[in-house]
Amino acid sequence: MYKIAIDGPAGAGKSTIAKKLASALNIEYIDTGAMYRAITLKAIRLGIDMEDENSYGFLKDTNLDICNGRFILDGEDVSEKIRSVEITENVSTPSKIKCVREFLVDYQRKISDKKSVVMDGRDIGTVVLPKAELKIFLTASVECRARRRMLERKLAGIEKSLEETIEEIEIRDYKDSTRKESPLKKSEDAVVIDSSNMSIDEVVSTIIYLVSERGLV
Ligand code: DC
Repeated sequence: MYKIAIDGPAGAGKSTIAKKLASALNIEYIDTGAMYRAITLKAIRLGIDMEDENSYGFLKDTNLDICNGRFILDGEDVSEKIRSVEITENVSTPSKIKCVREFLVDYQRKISDKKSVVMDGRDIGTVVLPKAELKIFLTASVECRARRRMLERKLAGIEKSLEETIEEIEIRDYKDSTRKESPLKKSEDAVVIDSSNMSIDEVVSTIIYLVSERGLV
């Protein structure tokens, strides 16, 4: 049994890489960003003050499930809804709230407890799985990350200019890395991969090489 932690800023390609890697290694992929997005969706629907830690009492009646890669929030499949621009623009707020992080970190540890996993997020190598056998910090230039995000959105029929997308990514990077609770930070023992000039397959093979180098497969 082994764990792979992949952290990095928005748009670095973490989920695409983690998904391919998990399938190549035949282990489970756990997308923690989707969990923060699901909590944000519920918070917006409830109309709570997202800045106020006391508004998150709803967590105790919240049920998250992952079923064949689909995200189920309180029995509803929200896999597409959590990718909307509205959720992306708001997700940094619930992500900085202590009780939200505690709730989700606990859940993430529980679901990865007895199996090999690839987990991606911002605090996986530092907080969630500090003993992970392999930690990757995946990054890329802001422009490159913005272009990827635009392409992804175009496929979903959403158009935003390069300038707007760069600004959106810079704001989220700033919020994710300066918050008090578990800011985005490279774990000291993480291997840094800059994917700016690499294809998806090149990044996946680089990680598989690191996995075999460590004798995990
Ligand atoms: O990877 P993503 O874009 O789906 O993540 C959405 C947000 O969730 C991101 O802006 C910060 C937050 N997040 C976090 O704080 N910790 C994680 N482990 C994963 C995501």
